[in-house]
Formats: sequence, structure tokens, C-alpha cells
Amino acid sequence: MAEEKDLKGLSRREFLKDAGLVVGGAAVGSLGLAAACKGTSTTDTVTKTVTGTATTSTITVTQPPVTTTVTNVVDPRSVFNVNGSVIKMDVQPYWSLNFVLREKMGLTFTKVGCDRGECGHCTVLIDGVPMYSCMVLAIDATNKKIETAESLSPDLGNLTGIAKSFRDNEAFQCGWCTAGFMMATKALLAATPKPTMAQVKAGLSGHLCICSSIMEVCNTVVKIGAGG
Ligand code: FES
Ligand code: FES
Repeated sequence: MAEEKDLKGLSRREFLKDAGLVVGGAAVGSLGLAAACKGTSTTDTVTKTVTGTATTSTITVTQPPVTTTVTNVVDPRSVFNVNGSVIKMDVQPYWSLNFVLREKMGLTFTKVGCDRGECGHCTVLIDGVPMYSCMVLAIDATNKKIETAESLSPDLGNLTGIAKSFRDNEAFQCGWCTAGFMMATKALLAATPKPTMAQVKAGLSGHLCICSSIMEVCNTVVKIGAGG
């Protein structure tokens, strides 16, 4: 019985042969995908036979090995330079410098107040620049010079320098803001050794004192600059 032809002129048998080729091609595609996932190359051969004529096609799929680099999950042995000491420790990428200083290194002179960059209580110096340590990721402070209030007067029984001036001039009440003010003062005096009151107010403007000791602080910094 004569085969029926569809609108494209293909008989049902011819259509199934061609469909078989498409399926075969899809299988090669899958093979290539599997090879890509493995990071290898593969070769496959597809043979199509149409009305007695054999046609052979060779398909080669090559994929370089897939390498995955995971970064910042844990930074192994990060190196910190804190108050002249080299400290190596693993840190999580989301840990703030304030958290690492206080909770991991035990340097609790650095306080935390707002924990969102508003009060200045957490200020430390990083390469000489006053920074809110609550707003700095610890991993961004590696291999930099970090200074905390512990460095101002290592002998607490014999205060010197800025720490002694703050104490002698009673530039504090509860003291929670004092470490931040002192570190900002160190940076200010390094840039402006004899600041005016206006310069002091500008230099310490990023700091809040909820005990209202701000004028005692400003007067003390002016006094230090004047040699007092
Ligand atoms: S605790 Fe960092 S700015 Fe307030
Ligand atoms: S002395 Fe208490 S917050 Fe400043």
C-alpha cells in the first residue's frame, strides 16, 4: 500500500527516521552536557541513513575542567597588626573589627555604643585615620596598623599623654565615650598639633557624649595642644 505523504512530502516512515536522528542528536547533546559537568571532552558519532545513502557525522564536545573558587567563607589566618603586635586569627567575613577587637582579642577599651556608625564610641585608628570600628569589617583591617586606646598609656597605674590629660581634666563622667574621644584626639593632634576650639569641635564632631562631658573634652584637647 502506498504510504501517505504529509504536507512536507515526507512519508510516516521517513518522518520517523528523521525523528530518530533528532533524538540521537539530543542524546549527543546530553553526552556533551555530562562531559561539560565532568570537565572532560567526549566524541560521539551519529549515523543517518536516508533512502539507502549513509551519512556519518562526528560531533566533538570539549569543555575545560570546571574549577570553583570559594572565597571569603573563612579567611584563614588573617594577620592583624594591633598596637604593634602581630595577631593571626581566623575571622568570619561578616565580623566587624569592633567585634574582633573586643570579643576575640579582649581589647575592651574600645567600646560599642550605637553599633551603627553614629556615636563614635568605637573609634580606633587604622593607618592613622580615625574609623568607627563597628562599621569596618575585620577582614578589611588586616595587614594595616590598628591602634586602640590600650596603646595610649600601657601602664594604667601611671597614665601618660592624652589619657593622663583626660583624667586630670575630668574630661569624662561614665567614661563610655572616652576611648573614642581619645583616639580621635590623637589623630587630630597629629594633623593639627595646636588646634583652636573651632578645630577641636570640628575634629571631634563625629562623637557623642550622653553624659554631657563634651565641653570638658574640647577644653582638654585645646589645653593639650597649648602644652598644658
Ligand atoms: S558604636 Fe560605632 S559609631 Fe557607635
Ligand atoms: S562620659 Fe559618659 S557618654 Fe561620655
